[in-house]
Amino acid sequence: MCGIVGYTGKAKASPFLMEGLKRLEYRGYDSAGIALSDKGIEIHRAKGKIDNLRQKLPRELKQTCGIGHTRWATHGKPSEANAHPHRSQDGKVALIHNGIIENYASLRTELIELGFEMKSETDTEVLAHLIQKCYKGDLEAAVREVLGLVTGAYGIAVMHENEPGRIVAAKMGSPLIIGLGTGENYLASDRTALMGHTQNVVILEDGEMAVIDPDEVRFSTIEAEALDPQVTELKDEVERIEKGEFPHFMLKEIFEQPRTISDSFAGRLLSEEGTAHLGGLDNVIDRLMECDRIILTACGTSWHAALVGEYMLEEYLRIPVEVEYASEFRYRNPVVDENTAVIAISQSGETADTLAAMKEAKRKGALVLGICNRVGSAIARESHGGVYIHAGPEIGVASTKAFTSQLVVLTLLTIKLARIRSMGFSEGKNLVDELRGLPDKVEQVLKGAKEIERISQMLAPHHNALYLGRGLAFPVALEGALKLKEISYIHAEGYPAAEMKHGPIALIDENMPVIVIAPSDDNYEKVISNLQEVRARSGKTIVIATQADTKLQELADEVIQIPHSHPILSPILSSIPLQLISYYVAVARGCDVDQPRNLAKSVTVE
Ligand code: F6R
Repeated sequence: MCGIVGYTGKAKASPFLMEGLKRLEYRGYDSAGIALSDKGIEIHRAKGKIDNLRQKLPRELKQTCGIGHTRWATHGKPSEANAHPHRSQDGKVALIHNGIIENYASLRTELIELGFEMKSETDTEVLAHLIQKCYKGDLEAAVREVLGLVTGAYGIAVMHENEPGRIVAAKMGSPLIIGLGTGENYLASDRTALMGHTQNVVILEDGEMAVIDPDEVRFSTIEAEALDPQVTELKDEVERIEKGEFPHFMLKEIFEQPRTISDSFAGRLLSEEGTAHLGGLDNVIDRLMECDRIILTACGTSWHAALVGEYMLEEYLRIPVEVEYASEFRYRNPVVDENTAVIAISQSGETADTLAAMKEAKRKGALVLGICNRVGSAIARESHGGVYIHAGPEIGVASTKAFTSQLVVLTLLTIKLARIRSMGFSEGKNLVDELRGLPDKVEQVLKGAKEIERISQMLAPHHNALYLGRGLAFPVALEGALKLKEISYIHAEGYPAAEMKHGPIALIDENMPVIVIAPSDDNYEKVISNLQEVRARSGKTIVIATQADTKLQELADEVIQIPHSHPILSPILSSIPLQLISYYVAVARGCDVDQPRNLAKSVTVE
């Protein structure tokens, strides 16, 4: 969703701002803009891609202080007028904002009554006018006063014409990171924008502000209490945010999976003890083992990972495990107590609904853990303990490598907890060894990419598709369907294979391609029966299977073979052909793979 960047120093600000906005493109946006301050404030904005903005910029931009924004529309359609930065009525304040100002309607009415003229339909514009109204020669004080008037979520950055070289930033709900340099300082909503510029960052917490000048940054709470900043080091991962030889980030990330999967278990497999080491759980393990119930909560793809986790944890721990959409969990007064462990799963670590669900679970006394990718993200900080998936920055909007790494970490968690409870050494060791061998098997699946590309062409002309699986393959079917619809805009549904005959079978004819996930496990024969039901109704079928026997070859239009593995690892292997299918179908349909329409990488609004 919306992105924020800012720079103040001795160099020209616009190159950093434009590069930073480009790096934040992956978050999803529909307009962009920058404001530069020097003797006055200059604003440039454009609807659509960053390149539209670039084309509108004058050749010579000498200002050494500025802020930039990519907007994902919430209040008001995507347009230049609604794009940020917004300006105050007197033109002296420029402001960018991520989040939602919940009481903006009443503030807007009050401002209009006072004679302010609104130029946009956004909730953000009121903040710029309010800062003008409260400004008495001190931008920091004016921002503080205005934040006392608003409710909602925000990450803001503000400049005032009378205070050149200064940016005032504040955070409540939406992420903001301050990058510290020498004689120059930075601001961003996402560390991706800072990589290669500085490694020293301060992550603002809710209710905190920063006054950023070229030689100094002062931190305080919104209530004006001075703060000592906690500086953390940003690992430089610039090469991981470049596409390299790949045409799209999504394809690059799919092909990275042998490495990202092994990064997820690196240093965590204890072969000699047949278990896993998860240091982030050391402080909470005793309490976790006392819990009599686990709730996994997440959104989207991470929710599908949670469903796989539910099967694994329940099977091996023999305690009730439930999976909840974070957005539903927080609003329905769930039954949670101090004997419940709530585990939030999130790639970005920023998803507003997941964060709110964690807060609700904490309020009710639960042990709250996080499985996330982004180190130091809001979700990581909200957890009592947790495990990073170490998949590296995921730039393609459609989640791929983060999903498989989430499954690896859920497997590690299952092994660790089950070994404390009832799993024997040899079973634990077998799983540990299987995990170690997984990257090579993933490599084997990827070697079939050309063939998968050919098979995918069969789906490209269709408007609908059905994905079927049983047991652990059911969440994989859901994930396959989500991937296809997100990036190729084909309507796709995932179903438990046996449920098909309770309704969806009515849809099956020669125009309904059906993708069946049929690894060789206890459900195999049953899934083959479901395949026959599809075949009998002329449905076109693509089957992901571990064995391509003659029976299957006769029944299926196409078979994609994956290597044999332990059943709990087969979701990882079977999801890779599905990722490739979505990718190739989207490319064949001419879709914008890395930035599909209307989608955002980090969903920071509820
Ligand atoms: C789908 C996708 C989304 C996210 C969801 C949760 O490809 O990426 O469905 O999985 O928005 O995001 P995180 O995992 O960042 O909490």
